[in-house]
Amino acid sequence: MTLVFPIRRLIATVILCFAASVSAADVVPLSSLDLTKVRQSWGRPQVDRSMREKPLSIAGKAYERGIGTHANSTWWIELGGGTDRFQASVGVDDSAGSDRASVEFKVTADDRVLWESGVMKQGDPAKAVDLDLRGARTLILQVTDAGDGVDYDHANWADARFLVSGTRPQTMDRPVPAEAPVILTPRPGPAPRINGPLVYGCRPGNPFLYRIPTEGQRPMRFSAQDLPTGLQLDAQEGIVTGTAPPRGEYQVTFRAANEHGAAQRGFKIVSGDLLALTPPMGWNHWYTHYDRITDRLMREAADVMVVSGMADVGYQYVNIDDCWMFAPKHSDPLRVGALRNAQGEIRPNGHFPDMKALTAYIHSKGLKAGIYTSPGPLTCGGFAGSYGHEAQDAKTFADWGFDFLKYDWCSYGDIAKDDPAPELEKFKKPYALMGRLLREQSRDIVLNLCQYGMGKVWEWGAEVGGHSWRTAGDLGFELDRIFDVALANAKHAEWQRPGAWNDPDYIQIGYIGAAHGMGLPQPCPLTPNEQYSFMSLWSLMAAPLFFSGDMGRLDEFTINVLCNAEVIEVNQDPLGRCARVVPLTGASFAMVKDLADGSKAVGLFNRAETTTVVAATLDQLGLAGTWRVRDLWRQVDLGRLQTRVSDRIGRHGAFMIRLWPEP
Ligand code: GLA
Repeated sequence: MTLVFPIRRLIATVILCFAASVSAADVVPLSSLDLTKVRQSWGRPQVDRSMREKPLSIAGKAYERGIGTHANSTWWIELGGGTDRFQASVGVDDSAGSDRASVEFKVTADDRVLWESGVMKQGDPAKAVDLDLRGARTLILQVTDAGDGVDYDHANWADARFLVSGTRPQTMDRPVPAEAPVILTPRPGPAPRINGPLVYGCRPGNPFLYRIPTEGQRPMRFSAQDLPTGLQLDAQEGIVTGTAPPRGEYQVTFRAANEHGAAQRGFKIVSGDLLALTPPMGWNHWYTHYDRITDRLMREAADVMVVSGMADVGYQYVNIDDCWMFAPKHSDPLRVGALRNAQGEIRPNGHFPDMKALTAYIHSKGLKAGIYTSPGPLTCGGFAGSYGHEAQDAKTFADWGFDFLKYDWCSYGDIAKDDPAPELEKFKKPYALMGRLLREQSRDIVLNLCQYGMGKVWEWGAEVGGHSWRTAGDLGFELDRIFDVALANAKHAEWQRPGAWNDPDYIQIGYIGAAHGMGLPQPCPLTPNEQYSFMSLWSLMAAPLFFSGDMGRLDEFTINVLCNAEVIEVNQDPLGRCARVVPLTGASFAMVKDLADGSKAVGLFNRAETTTVVAATLDQLGLAGTWRVRDLWRQVDLGRLQTRVSDRIGRHGAFMIRLWPEP
């Protein structure tokens, strides 16, 4: 053994010297490239030192040269065919400071993934990368959060260098080709079409509110057959109100008619313990208004949800995120003040004069209202959190009339660190408390756990009373990561079921403000194809569908992507399954979702930088027999399918179909 190692090293050195002398390659350190275009979720990349500005170090070994970065980071490099090799030692930096640090390194050249590190944690020895890049035009170096959020994810490309015999590598901007915003979906016709979930959960004796999502020309007359006692229908608006019936299942039929025709749809009310039997749908203010949110903007969002047609395909919740409370300090004087009143009750800030009036306004449209807080003393935005006031706040939210709570970990880390309980217990504790408190209110309040996937929240989120849980950190403006985020989220498919949803964060299309710096809304950087992929992925995963773009600036294309009733029907399917991922050749993959009526929804996705024919055999998709096929984005029937499905798909685009078995 002692002899083997030096001999191996000697041989390697000889081979390296030989290779070097043959190709006469120059060594170009990665750290000599322009770093300004590197995109990463936290901080800026560091040259020859870690993100904590210490010498680079992996598992106790120090490195003089290299790059300290932080997940999620993406680096586009133009090679122009002149680079022979890329070499590096990669790993989590020793100064990351937590066993929660976990990352994955990935190297892609010309749409081909050349190397993946697998999940690496702090203390894992460095992994060596040595890749042949001859002929490659572009290279992408990525560090992802390995699917559990970006906390502590300090990652090093140590000793990273190119061996170059031609054009020198240089950093480039992420290439974004211009694409026309093609509207694929026909506008809804004038005759009624009833949409929305086929199954709906509520708790016996609590207030009941449901606006029947219906496309078509108004005025319309609604009716309901077999509506349980205690519920009434507003026949003109199509809004059901009243008191949820005793425990049990009630099969109702809704009907809608206008001068152009009539439609009907079943609706099963399940009165019991579970809420959110299909993924919650709505709007959340965060990625548009950040700490600029006001009562007026929330009301505007409710108005637009109805006027734009979003409510007619099932969007329902109008949710306030952070910054509605007072903060100890903030640049806006109306947001600074005593956090609580003399009785210890939380106070809305100067932009929210009357929370009860706000929820009443939202409810008057048949929509529901959501609110946000943190189990810590302060929220992520530095506003009042619920720590020490949990019971009081749960009651306040119910009294104000809220129907949804996002509970965001934020400063709770400071509390948890002094708790001697085992780590998993510490993660569960604040959520179990709020879960119990919300169940005790005499309102149905859906609970969204926001703690970025810590402690594998998908395994226990439902047990502590959550109806959905974020599976990763903020999707933010790193929107070119939607495929990675979706694939990481889909890994937790087995934990998802009606009333318990994996949440990969909000739909960010239309006008959106950059998360970093809480920017003003501007057109989102995703191409039209990427926006179709976004909505297709979220629908196939049965993810909560919360649009977080600017409701005041909804254009026709954005409405088209958000409001395709047949795509949404896949998301809202009562079986509640997340699609299976099927890797295909090159940079393409498929997703296959089982639906309650025995049909399947299939998405084909093209991750390549160019238009590609993406194909899958029925066998690859795990299907057999003959199927009737419908293109869901275009809403047209495509005939029969027996062997394989394929489509020419634009860069980063999607093709989404539904298949019904033929006898
Ligand atoms: C965290 C959450 C976001 C948002 C902000 C508010 O970052 O993950 O979704 O709620 O806090 O400060």
